[in-house]
Amino acid sequence: MPAIHIVRKLYYIPGIRKLYHFPVDATDSLLGRRTELTPPRSKIFVGCGDFQAIGEEFLRYFAELGALKPNEKVLDVGCGIGRMAVPLTRYLKDGGSYEGFDIVTDGINWCRKKITPNYPHFHFQLSDIYNKLFNPKGRYKASEYNFPYDKESFDFIFLISVFTHMLPQDMENYFSQIGRVLKRGGRCLITFFLLNKESLKLIDAGLSRLDFKHEFNEYRTIDQDTPEYDIAYNEEFIRRRFNSYGLNIVEPIHYGSWCGRRSFLSDQDIIIAIKK
Ligand SMILES: C[S@@+](CC[C@H](N)C(=O)[O-])C[C@H]1O[C@@H](n2cnc3c(N)ncnc32)[C@H](O)[C@@H]1O
Repeated sequence: MPAIHIVRKLYYIPGIRKLYHFPVDATDSLLGRRTELTPPRSKIFVGCGDFQAIGEEFLRYFAELGALKPNEKVLDVGCGIGRMAVPLTRYLKDGGSYEGFDIVTDGINWCRKKITPNYPHFHFQLSDIYNKLFNPKGRYKASEYNFPYDKESFDFIFLISVFTHMLPQDMENYFSQIGRVLKRGGRCLITFFLLNKESLKLIDAGLSRLDFKHEFNEYRTIDQDTPEYDIAYNEEFIRRRFNSYGLNIVEPIHYGSWCGRRSFLSDQDIIIAIKK
């Protein structure tokens, strides 16, 4: 197994993350270098990039590509430890509100403790759903889960690096739930690793930072045993999913750099769609 995959596997073990980050976390605390709304590095389980910078980057996409207005109702599916919620605390006001849910207790607890008390229009829910990587003891199946919200209650729904960790049956149900809880004319912004001619060529040439070498029907993964580490889907399959649930893709798709592409917007591929 390549060294980079071993490092990624170690990253998802909380004890190892804590040990590794202890010196920096302790120094940050001592010197007061961390803001109230930034979790210690040992608690961040949503990726190794810069927590604040990535949140700010996506806030720009929400406003510029997704036309998100400050007074709208937003749903963050797989909200993690508030990386997207934190910058939105500055943006959503005048009746705007935020709902987020996730399957990892630590992330939801941190958000409830640090965000909701000062921003009561921000709510976080824990859903005990199985995911082999993030919640291996989860009780419920993502393929059967009903989002705990009324139909047509959101103007804007986003999933950042969530379908990149979900298997097809689970994702299928989430598409149907998004179709249910999004208002007509509402928008969703979802990130993927999309397999198309260009990305497959780059993967085959060894230029992708993720080696999607295990091939299944409609998707590929980097790890056969725990596919949830990273999942890439065939672009045509994903286009059909949006279409099946009445979600019109706003062209063009904004392709990302993950596969070694030279011209890109972000790391992952970004799709914006509008509910008919
Ligand atoms: C890479 S993290 C991204 C978190 C967050 N969206 C962000 O960008 O900071 C992937 C997230 O998806 C969540 N997740 C995985 N399966 C899920 C499911 N079935 N329902 C909701 N969240 C899920 C994980 O718990 C994790 O927080």
